[in-house]
Formats: sequence, C-alpha cells, structure tokens
Amino acid sequence: MVEEHRHPFLKGLSKHRGAPPTAIVIFGASGDLTSRKLIPAMYNLAVDNLLPSDFFLVGYGRKPIPDEEYRAHAQRSVDEFSRRSMNTEIWDRMGSQVFYQSGGYDDPDAFLQLAKRLESLEKEVGRTLQLLFYISTPPQVFGSILKNLGLSGLAKRNINTPLFTKVIVEKPFGKDLSTAQRLNQVILQQFEEKQVYRIDHYLGKETVQDLLVHRFANAIFEPIWKREFVDCVQITVAEELGVGSRGGYYDQSGALRDMIQNHTMQLLSLIAMEPPVSLDPEAIRDEKVKVIKAIQPLALNVEDSDVVRARYDAGLIGGNPVPGYLDAKGIPDDSATETYAALRLSINNWRWKGVPFYLRSGKRMARRVSEIAIQFKRPPGILFSEGTRFDLAPNTMVLRIQPDEGSTLLLNAKVPGLETRTQPVKMHFHYETTFGSNTPEAYERLILDSMIGDNTLFIRGDETEASWKLVTPVLEHWSACGVDGLEKYAAGSWGPLASERLLWTNGHEWRRPGF
Ligand code: BG6
Repeated sequence: MVEEHRHPFLKGLSKHRGAPPTAIVIFGASGDLTSRKLIPAMYNLAVDNLLPSDFFLVGYGRKPIPDEEYRAHAQRSVDEFSRRSMNTEIWDRMGSQVFYQSGGYDDPDAFLQLAKRLESLEKEVGRTLQLLFYISTPPQVFGSILKNLGLSGLAKRNINTPLFTKVIVEKPFGKDLSTAQRLNQVILQQFEEKQVYRIDHYLGKETVQDLLVHRFANAIFEPIWKREFVDCVQITVAEELGVGSRGGYYDQSGALRDMIQNHTMQLLSLIAMEPPVSLDPEAIRDEKVKVIKAIQPLALNVEDSDVVRARYDAGLIGGNPVPGYLDAKGIPDDSATETYAALRLSINNWRWKGVPFYLRSGKRMARRVSEIAIQFKRPPGILFSEGTRFDLAPNTMVLRIQPDEGSTLLLNAKVPGLETRTQPVKMHFHYETTFGSNTPEAYERLILDSMIGDNTLFIRGDETEASWKLVTPVLEHWSACGVDGLEKYAAGSWGPLASERLLWTNGHEWRRPGF
C-alpha cells in the first residue's frame, strides 16, 4: 500500500520507504540523461533493495530496438555511469525486467500498443502495477506525449486508488512564463496535479535537502536568520565545464533559463522561506512559492540594473587553454546567449526587506562550486576596530552544496601572542569525514520518491510559474538588446567586472568560494 505524505527529510532512505509494484516507462529511452543518470539510479536503488519486487523498466523511443539490445544498452550505462560497480547477480535480476517499446510520440496507436504491453506485464505478475511515465525527451514532443497518455487512458488509470499513474516531467519546463503556463495547462488537461512530478534535480541532492534540517533542526540559526542580523546572501552555482556537445540546446537557453530560473531559485526559496507548519509536501511548497512571489521585479535600466549577463571568451581552466563559447560546437557566430548571469534580488517581506540576495551562475568559471553564503552584519566598530591590527571579516555561514559538501562558519579569533590581534578562522563540518562517501545521487532519491508518491522534492505548477514570472522580463529585455550589454569574461575566471560592480554599489563583494 502506498503511504501518502511521507516526510523525506526525517525518514531518509530506509527499508520502510517501500514502493508499490511499479512499471517505469521512459520516453527518450536512448537519450543521454537516461543512460547517464536514470538507468544507473534505478540500478543503485536495486542494490539498496529499494526497488519493489515487481518492477519493470520500459524504454520507449522512436527507433525500433529489440528488448535484448536495449537491455545490453542499459547494462553498458550501469557499467559506465553507476556510482557503484556492477554486481552481476543484481543486474541479472534487474536486467530481466527491462523492456523496450518502439513508437512515435505523436502516434495514438503506438500508445495503445504500449498500454497492451503494460497490461501483459501485469498479467505476468498477476497484480496491478503503478505506472510512472518519465518524460525525458526534447520539449517539442512533451505535448504529444501528454496528449497520447490521455487518449490511451493511461493517464487516468487507477486514478482513485493509491496506484494512480504518475508523470515525471524533465526540464526545460517552458522557456518563459507563457510557455510554462501553456505546458501546465496541457499537463492538467490529462493529469491531476497530484500525479505530476516536475523535476529539478538539485532538490534531490543531499546537501539541498539538508538546508531545511540545518535551518529547522537547529535552534541557534532561526533567531538570526533575518534582516536585523543578515547583511546579504550570496548563492553561487559555478561550473568549470563548458557546453560540451549540448551547444544546440544551450544556445537556445542560456544561463538564466538553464540554471537560475530553476536550480538557484530553488536554493533561494529553501534558504529564505518561512518555517512550514509541517513537513507535508504542500506545507513546504506553499512556503517556497510565497517567498518567490515576494521577490521584487528586477530593475533593468542601464544605470542601476539588478542583472548582469556575460559570455566566456577563451581562457585557462586548470592551466589548460580552452576556447571561447563562440568556438564551441553548434554555436552560431551571431549568438547573443549568456553563459553567465548574476542577479541582485530584494525579497519584500517582513523577514528579508532590505537584505540583498545575490545569485550567480556560469559555465567555464574558475572552479566547480555551488554554495550559499549567509553573510552577517559586522559588529559595531567600537572595539577591535582601530588600525590594521585587527583583520575582521563578517561572520559568514557557508553551506556548501557541492563538491566537498559541508558547511563552514567564519568567525574572528585572537591570534595567539602577547599582543591582541585578530584573524578570521573557520569552523568546518565536512559530510564525507562524518558520514563517509558514496551518498545516493539526486536521481536515486527522486525516482524513489516518485514511486512512493512523495512529491515534496518536486516543483509545483505555481512554483515554476512564479519563478518564470520573475525572470521573463529579463529574458525579453536581453532578447531585445541582442549583444548590446553582453559582457565578457575569460574562461577560468570568476565572471565579468560588471558582476563585481553589482555588489559594490551596496558595499558588498562576491566571496571567492572555497572553504
Ligand atoms: C543541468 C543544466 O540542469 O544542470 C546543465 O542543464 C548543468 O547545464 C547541470 O551543467 C548541472 O548539474 P550538476 O548536478 O552537475 O550541478
């Protein structure tokens, strides 16, 4: 029996989180995400004994592929991408439950065939299966898939039982407010909101789930988590990688759509939201939406703009020369796409009024790091203030999302010696040291939660729309400006000077991330 409203933050991964008999159908079965993340995630759930005993994975795609061949493909992706090495005994069992169904995404008959195939699997095991449709295709076919799931009757199967069908929708969830609204409408024509799991894989990361524990399972932080004590909040999601082979997708997207609208906004909502009344999914999601809605529209005027965008030129990453964005595969010469975006946000609510939230994300930056830094106000300059003897830094709580997951509290301490001098020092908590390595990957958690029917770590329709509402005017403005105002930064740097200026106007500066 499926238990609704579980509390993932408290229960964690345990044998109690049993999923009902399930068939997962992946649309986009031969895609990159399926091979790199989804199949290895399911394999790791099998290793942890978290897959139900009646479990099937059905790949769906346009290409006709025999079951055996798809099984071999799935095995290769486990070999290549799983965090744990292949255990043949476990794979033999799981592999025998892997199938492939070919068909067009816009072909209603093919969906009837799919329905028949799923029924025959049910006959084989002699019980009803929960159906979970994972849409991991290019967005152009989302609409056809959703419509055909409705027409074939698959969408509403078992709707009034705990085994109701679920649909997982991968990003990109629209490309602006109106396309996201339209996509929500299309989804809700076929499915009820409780059936919909909009993925943001950042929510599956251990450290992101820990944000709520950090805030609400410790009594010392909440009293100072507010405008009276906090000077600013900085959220950085920096990558060393460029666009790789995804140039075609990325050039249509850019940093604001690809990272800020979803991943960084999710981090912001968890760090800034009010305490939820309970750990129920809706209680948490209600608070997340509220805080996103409280963000002021962004100023776009040239003098005092809240936004900066830039594109990387050639530079050095780890000492090795790398070409600029325009020389990457699939990028047109006249591209105006940003590979870096920085925002200065104001949250207009009782807790945060007057505290700037700075967000930045970029490709080809100095190092891969995602962190949230809560910078507290400085002490009054009465003691320890004169001359250069006192090196005082603002107290800062740094929550490190990845890599080297953990947290650091920056304090000022007396340097040992006969004279009084101060120096900033750090108190560390490091996940790996305390808990060991090999934590589950985001997709393991998210796939398990969707099988169990827990949508806490997924985005609700109004949440994604609220976030698109904020960034859409920026996208429209940038699109109207073309390359005008598109700053440059060298690959391997921390972004353009304009981004530093964004903070200087408030007397702040970006942290150089690192423990
Ligand atoms: C994806 C973006 O959502 O997140 C990619 O489309 C980005 O461009 C990736 O590289 C980053 O994810 P992670 O988990 O490596 O931080």
